[in-house]
Amino acid sequence: ATAEKDGYEHFMLKEIHEQPKAIRDTLAARLKEGVVDLSREISLTPEELKRFDKVHIVACGTAYHAGLIGKSVIESLVRIPVEVDIASEYRYRNPILTPSTLVIVISQSGETADTLAALREAKQAGARVLGITNVVGSSVAREADEVLMTWAGPEIAVASTKAYTSQLIAIYLLGLYLARVLGTQPEEQLLEVTEALPRLSEQVKSILEDHGSIRKFAEKIAQHENLFFIGRGLDYPVVLEGSLKLKEISYIHSEAYAAGELKHGTLALIEEGIPVIALATQQAVHDKMVSNIIEVKARGAHVLGLGLEGRTDLDRSVDEHITIPETLSLLTPVLSVIPLQLLAYYTSTARGINVDKPRNLAKSVTVE
Ligand code: G6P
Repeated sequence: ATAEKDGYEHFMLKEIHEQPKAIRDTLAARLKEGVVDLSREISLTPEELKRFDKVHIVACGTAYHAGLIGKSVIESLVRIPVEVDIASEYRYRNPILTPSTLVIVISQSGETADTLAALREAKQAGARVLGITNVVGSSVAREADEVLMTWAGPEIAVASTKAYTSQLIAIYLLGLYLARVLGTQPEEQLLEVTEALPRLSEQVKSILEDHGSIRKFAEKIAQHENLFFIGRGLDYPVVLEGSLKLKEISYIHSEAYAAGELKHGTLALIEEGIPVIALATQQAVHDKMVSNIIEVKARGAHVLGLGLEGRTDLDRSVDEHITIPETLSLLTPVLSVIPLQLLAYYTSTARGINVDKPRNLAKSVTVE
């Protein structure tokens, strides 16, 4: 088994390090000379695409968190309303599905029972279903009307890492493609995003090369039983994912909050010494986020701030500070999740937990 792990101690660590390649492979052949072309994979004609008046994204677990980012990406690039649902909720809430609904199901394995059931229900209601999956020949790949593959390679660890970042890449590609075909954004703006995409792979690599401070912070939080993640804008779905990752493999209770909601309840739980992981990568809400950090600090929280390289005001307001390379605000989730994956990993190993096979969890949930 050591050979399969390429010298890494666990599959999860190997898969975390495979992300630069997974990103490259998922982009390859779809992006040429600044233009995203999915016409060989997606059979919907521009006329058919124009008829969609809304999008539903349906998924479970980490794929659901990718879906939350998908909502922002599609709404901002394509200007079409998007709803995101947990598959086990969607099925039972009698969703409004019509032939002009595009339903996107996201599933690494392509076999998650609730996600598959949602796919089938959507098809039955006459909606068009586009599946984003990592497994060729999986049920999602076979049953969806349209398939957009992620090329992350086999993911073995229960806690999903490279599948998630590849799902994000697939979503950016889809958003850019739809925006171009439907003409919803000026060309220059699409070009800016399209040109920033291929740089993500090297940027992820640079984060992976320098994670000493994350490891040290992990050893600290390994002693705690409760902690919080906070973020605003696109940092919010990323902290949801960071919190899930940590729960899955460290068994530490954590909650992720939209930082602006703190005052509506969670602030009551902040006491001396409690770790708070604060993401502050979103330019538009940066100052608001810094105010939220000051609020939790004033109540004694020990704050790890994660911000963009070159923004020095953050390190003045936090106890520990790590950075990710600069990219467009829309693309930061691909980078900001990496330190959170490493944090979960090193906290898990510090606690002596079986990282790749956490208790009670399965890689693929094929029962309802
Ligand atoms: C399980 C896995 C998660 C995964 C979720 C959805 O809970 O442990 O890592 O995100 O299922 O799986 P899917 O294969 O549909 O993406």
